[in-house]
Amino acid sequence: MKFFADTAEIQEIRDLAETGLLDGVTTNPSLVQKSGRDFVEVLREIVAVCDGPVSAEVVALDYDGMMAQAEKLRQVADNIAVKVPLTEAGLKACRTLSSQGTMVNVTLCFSAAQALLAAKAGATFISPFVGRHDDVGFSGMELISDIRLIYDNYDYETQILVASVRSPMHIVEAAKIGADVMTAPPKVIKQLYKHPLTDLGLEAFTKDWEATGQKL
Ligand code: E4P
Repeated sequence: MKFFADTAEIQEIRDLAETGLLDGVTTNPSLVQKSGRDFVEVLREIVAVCDGPVSAEVVALDYDGMMAQAEKLRQVADNIAVKVPLTEAGLKACRTLSSQGTMVNVTLCFSAAQALLAAKAGATFISPFVGRHDDVGFSGMELISDIRLIYDNYDYETQILVASVRSPMHIVEAAKIGADVMTAPPKVIKQLYKHPLTDLGLEAFTKDWEATGQKL
């Protein structure tokens, strides 16, 4: 499973890159707003650290506007994946961009039917939002299972990018289903290391080793 960082904070991305866990980055307009920085400037800094796919979202709602913004975004670097919303105009832009060899991440997916359309439009990534789906009383993971089944039925190459990840369990469940990628806030990725028994075991080993009086 590939790990993408869901953030526009460059220091968080640099820290994750140092762990060797970082396969890509996703941003969205809310994350850019939170960073308080110029979007294109931030993107330039991110692609200098991460050579995997870096998702950058268009904000126009119409096809022509999306295409004009996509042009600016893809000029930043070859590894920019243009993020478009799951709308009719978004999927039209997806088809054009992917036929031109640009990676496309189709975002705001909340149904298997939408995911099927994105695959047919040639999306590189489909981003089902599991956390937001759970929030309104549906099962985000059931959606991932349904998309996996449909994509496997037809050998679609579109990668399932599990988004809106809120906890380590989301990541584990998505990995069990066979999702290709997950994107999570760095804080959640760091939680994956943690287990209380690891901490307790380490404490006991450290204490016992000190009692031997030996040095390594
Ligand atoms: C990623 O591409 C999405 O924009 C992101 O995961 C949304 O997460 P949220 O629901 O926590 O805002």
